[in-house]
Amino acid sequence: MSSPFTYVFILHLFVLHSHSFPLSTSSRWIVDENTGDRVKLACVNWPGHLHVMIPEGLNKRPVKDIVSDISHKMGFNCVRLTWATYMYTRYSNLTVSESLDRWNLTVTKEGIARNNPEVLEMSIVEAQNAVVNAMGKGKIMVVLDNHISLPEWCCGYNDGNGFFGDEDFDPDEWVRGLVTVACRYKGNPSVRIT
Ligand SMILES: *[C@@H]1O[C@H](CO)[C@@H](O)[C@H](O)[C@H]1NC(C)=O
Ligand SMILES: *[C@@H]1O[C@H](CO)[C@@H](O)[C@H](O)[C@H]1NC(C)=O
Repeated sequence: MSSPFTYVFILHLFVLHSHSFPLSTSSRWIVDENTGDRVKLACVNWPGHLHVMIPEGLNKRPVKDIVSDISHKMGFNCVRLTWATYMYTRYSNLTVSESLDRWNLTVTKEGIARNNPEVLEMSIVEAQNAVVNAMGKGKIMVVLDNHISLPEWCCGYNDGNGFFGDEDFDPDEWVRGLVTVACRYKGNPSVRIT
């Protein structure tokens, strides 16, 4: 019983459930460094670049449950976790609790206290790290996506984050942010930085 549909379906399952690291490259392909087998990333987006600079949803569910759902319920093997440059160059010492207070997010703070209490007194950078580590434990590969400079919703032509010369795009600060993130996650085999 082998219709094209069955074939595609099986391939799909195989691809979505494979996870490998460390990764490497071979010509144009992403491969498993140890086996040389081709690895396909099936990534879901997880925003973490918005005003409060915390991966969204930590007020709703424990991080390990979110990670488990991404992998087991939804079938992804990878997350594209967005981040903002200023998280690393300007706000790295701000705690999650302080960040929520800056936006008067009382109810969200209560939600985090309920679902992920250990995160509240972490700095926003440590909180991102904790989420990345939870994904590593759940065998999810992570693409850390530098989405924007000023943490906010993006992307429009006039958001000041788009291109050289824009109000919130200083190339030196951008590079500083990339270097800081690269150093922080260097050696973490499940992370790629874009
Ligand atoms: C964070 O705190 C450390 C140690 O107090 C300090 O050296 C660093 O400049 C601070 N970073 C930012 C972005 O304020
Ligand atoms: C938060 O609340 C204070 C006091 O009501 C107010 O002055 C401030 O503008 C609010 N901040 C935001 C970001 O809404």
